[in-house]
Amino acid sequence: MARPKDGAFIEGLVIDPQSGIPMHRQIYVNLREMILSGSLRGGARMPSSRALSQHLSVSRFTVVTALDQLTAEGYLRPIEGSGTYVETILNIGDHSGSQSAPPKDTWSGDAMLSKHARNLSWRDSRVSNKTSKYLHMSAPDHRLFPFQIWAKLTKDLFSKVDSHVMWYRDGDAPSLLEQQIASQIAVSRGIRCDPEEVVTTLGAHHAVNLLTELLLDPGDTVAFEEPGMQAIYSTFRSHGCNVLQMPVDENGANPSSLPGRRIKLAFVTAAKQQPLAITMPAKRKLEMLNWASENNAVIVEDDLGSEFRYEGRPIPPLKAMDRSDRVIYIGAFSMSLLQTLRVGYMIMPRQLAARCRRLIQVRYRATPQITEQILAHFIADGHYSRHLHKTRRIYARRQEHLLDILRRDFADRFEPPAFSAGFYNMCYFRDQTVDDDQIIARCNDRNLGVEQLSYYYRSGASPRKGMLVGFASSDEEEITKGCAILQRCLG
Ligand SMILES: Cc1ncc(COP(=O)(O)O)c(C=O)c1O
Repeated sequence: MARPKDGAFIEGLVIDPQSGIPMHRQIYVNLREMILSGSLRGGARMPSSRALSQHLSVSRFTVVTALDQLTAEGYLRPIEGSGTYVETILNIGDHSGSQSAPPKDTWSGDAMLSKHARNLSWRDSRVSNKTSKYLHMSAPDHRLFPFQIWAKLTKDLFSKVDSHVMWYRDGDAPSLLEQQIASQIAVSRGIRCDPEEVVTTLGAHHAVNLLTELLLDPGDTVAFEEPGMQAIYSTFRSHGCNVLQMPVDENGANPSSLPGRRIKLAFVTAAKQQPLAITMPAKRKLEMLNWASENNAVIVEDDLGSEFRYEGRPIPPLKAMDRSDRVIYIGAFSMSLLQTLRVGYMIMPRQLAARCRRLIQVRYRATPQITEQILAHFIADGHYSRHLHKTRRIYARRQEHLLDILRRDFADRFEPPAFSAGFYNMCYFRDQTVDDDQIIARCNDRNLGVEQLSYYYRSGASPRKGMLVGFASSDEEEITKGCAILQRCLG
């Protein structure tokens, strides 16, 4: 027990030579605890290192190492010619503003959250059935990802350790991926743009967040498809925007019933409306563009699923018909390659693109340059078009297989489903009195990645009950198995 004559009492200071923890570390931790808990009071004079080393039966060097560390961290203060003193600092209990322990429920409610975060709900953020094995409605087949080619491109990149992609991006010059996207999108989607007009993002959802921050103030009015993607709707809503419903009819989003001038931005999925899988015809696209011009509004076009049209020629997006720079186009590699790659992009007027790059630099420093560089080479070397070609053929066969089963074995359950773009078929129940929530819960419990249509409606109820049954991520055998499970879930 130490009762040094020239300093504080260090009675509780004990060390255990058998513990395996270095002695200096034990001394440091014990003294720090004593200071933080207040048992070693601010202003107290420390015993000398010699006294401590004698008391603990360790070398002075060991004691000095511990004391130096405590001094460096601001727990002790040496005063020349006088000795070493304990700093006067708050002890841990004092942080709560009272002597009692801090309240345990600080984080249990919403009290600490911003209004923005309070407005988000789990329903909005649902990532559909991520571990489901069969009939998933929005995932590509990860097994088809070209792992070997990707590994080689990664190795090639890392063999050049001086590559500029190891640095944050500097300035506004388009990256290699932005250049590749600009050339590829002209061929695949008929959009003519300069690389300066392309901005890479962390996927489509990130692109919507960036646009919200760039273009919208709380209180601004946004038109949003009903039904539509709830996660994207909630981005606008939690930002404090007034979100109006834009009805979707048999030609896709219909702006005709929207009130005029007040709307700043309209969000549409024209290539394949999410979830109704309707492709917007040219006439409606022109109506949309005219509506935007007349109302001085911006259209944000999410071109989700356009890569996976299985019949006929590709249908040009709104952006390809836009003559007055009203459309901001969002694309992503989430469906065509991997959802977790987290690479997407926007095509937008050059001045806005420069602002957007700056916003990314301020908020996130950069998008993942290494992944983007690998992807750029993947596109440049022709692997991306080959991969798309291959997966399109495979998914088309899987869709045929699913439709055969649905038409043969589910004729009494569903209206005849149609061949569709994307990764799922919309199946409307013949019996509109079914409890779709319960059916989907049963399906999800049994490993099916299907979804109910009503989830896409703001009210949670759809005028026509239906479910989205996927085919892309399951092979033919898995589709057959999945459909057998589905039969049982339908009761
Ligand atoms: C409308 C819509 N756009 C885009 C995506 C892809 O989003 P991300 O690239 O952020 O994964 C999805 C997938 O959930 C979607 O439903």
